[in-house]
Amino acid sequence: MKICNGDWRSEWVAGLEEVLRHSEKAELTLSYSSPCQSEDARKKVGAYYTPVDAAAFFWNEFMVLNGISEEQDIKAFWQEHHFIEPASGAGILVYALLKKVVELGLPLDCLSSAEITLIDINPKALDFARDEIQKISKKWGLSFSDIRYVCTDFLHYAPSGSSKKPLFFGNPPYVANPKGSRWKNSFADFLERALTESGEHGSVHFILPLSVAFSRDYVELRSMMRNSGKSVAISSFDNIPDCLFSSGKPKHKNTNKANSQRCSIVTVFPEDNPRTLSTRMHRWRKKDRSRLLNSTPCYHDITGYNFGGQFLRPENAAILNLLKDAHLYPPLKTILAADGIHSLYISGVARNFMGFREHHSSGVLRLRFKTEVDLYKAVLIMSSDLFLDYWRTVGDGFHLTRTNLENFPLHPLLVQEVDANISRGKSIWEERTNYAKSKRHPAGMTISYDLTKVALKISSKF
Ligand SMILES: C[S@@+](CC[C@H](N)C(=O)[O-])C[C@H]1O[C@@H](n2cnc3c(N)ncnc32)[C@H](O)[C@@H]1O
Repeated sequence: MKICNGDWRSEWVAGLEEVLRHSEKAELTLSYSSPCQSEDARKKVGAYYTPVDAAAFFWNEFMVLNGISEEQDIKAFWQEHHFIEPASGAGILVYALLKKVVELGLPLDCLSSAEITLIDINPKALDFARDEIQKISKKWGLSFSDIRYVCTDFLHYAPSGSSKKPLFFGNPPYVANPKGSRWKNSFADFLERALTESGEHGSVHFILPLSVAFSRDYVELRSMMRNSGKSVAISSFDNIPDCLFSSGKPKHKNTNKANSQRCSIVTVFPEDNPRTLSTRMHRWRKKDRSRLLNSTPCYHDITGYNFGGQFLRPENAAILNLLKDAHLYPPLKTILAADGIHSLYISGVARNFMGFREHHSSGVLRLRFKTEVDLYKAVLIMSSDLFLDYWRTVGDGFHLTRTNLENFPLHPLLVQEVDANISRGKSIWEERTNYAKSKRHPAGMTISYDLTKVALKISSKF
């Protein structure tokens, strides 16, 4: 073993940073694993590797959630766990882990006692990881004799009989499964298997598509997590303006952000009093990326909230007060009337405001009302700050679905405010053209009314 002075930690961290940068660069070669380096083959195995800053955030978050902040904590954790990465790629998350544990105070002589299993179907990626770890071993005189490299399909892998608590971590492939499969996407197979294999005392820490938090396709997976007897924490990330993964296809320098993945980092871990925690859906500009990824996310306790079976992404604490007893209040649907003669049109997609429209067209929701007063009420409600926060909390960050819209709870405080402002609703609607915003697209121009400036601000009342 290398004899060190007190400053070995900074040398270790600097060395690992170099390995991380090298591994990020290697993505281009390693992730295109087919001989012809086709984008299609890459897509089929979901080989989109994690960027270095996201990998650091991934472990910071895990350590904070598990209350690991100093040498004694990390020493115990390191010795008690078997670290298993089911789709390890170039190994970026392992190098980020080795960096993090030293930053937390793990002594050099504890490092190589780690039991780590790296699994991938791509032998080249595993060879790369083995080489990098060997270089580290050689430089520091560490044996790392308990690191295994397994080239196989994780979904058919039988984990070894380790006596340690398993910690499954990683960024598994997101690949559409054939019709009729148990899950629509392969990430769900990985998550289900990891949850099952983690047993009573193990943990799971995965970067997954945002759909894991809300999609009806994964209701059962969410129940599995909720009923695991462990805590669940989920932090979520939008894809505009910046996104967690710098681009979908590095080879093609994809600039269409809408195609980049919205993600959630999901952690399932044992705690004495299991909770469900969730952050807002983070949105950030590129210039704020480093600040975001160097900070600890703010979690809301959503234990007991089961709105539509989702893991909510609470925009703020006020929205949780609205949703707390949502089932006790009538939903927005109750002021709609299928045979109503008054119509209101609203865009089926949103970002910073709800886009009211003049006419029906594709992708636009039509709402009908019996009376004009009901229409004005709907204008007041759907243009309010509370509705936008609600949509950000329950939506996918892009679509405004009819179900989300109709399920908006009409809390008594809100009803009171709306009833007191019907004439304001009428004048806002009559003057809507003052708030028109136009957007050009290949098929022409779309005009939406952004009523934010004149809308009710009611969030602060909750
Ligand atoms: C999204 S990449 C993640 C790589 C790395 N963990 C990271 O975060 O950068 C997914 C990896 O899963 C691997 N993979 C795909 N299907 C697999 C399977 N059935 N079993 C094991 N590995 C698989 C791919 O080769 C690829 O390296």
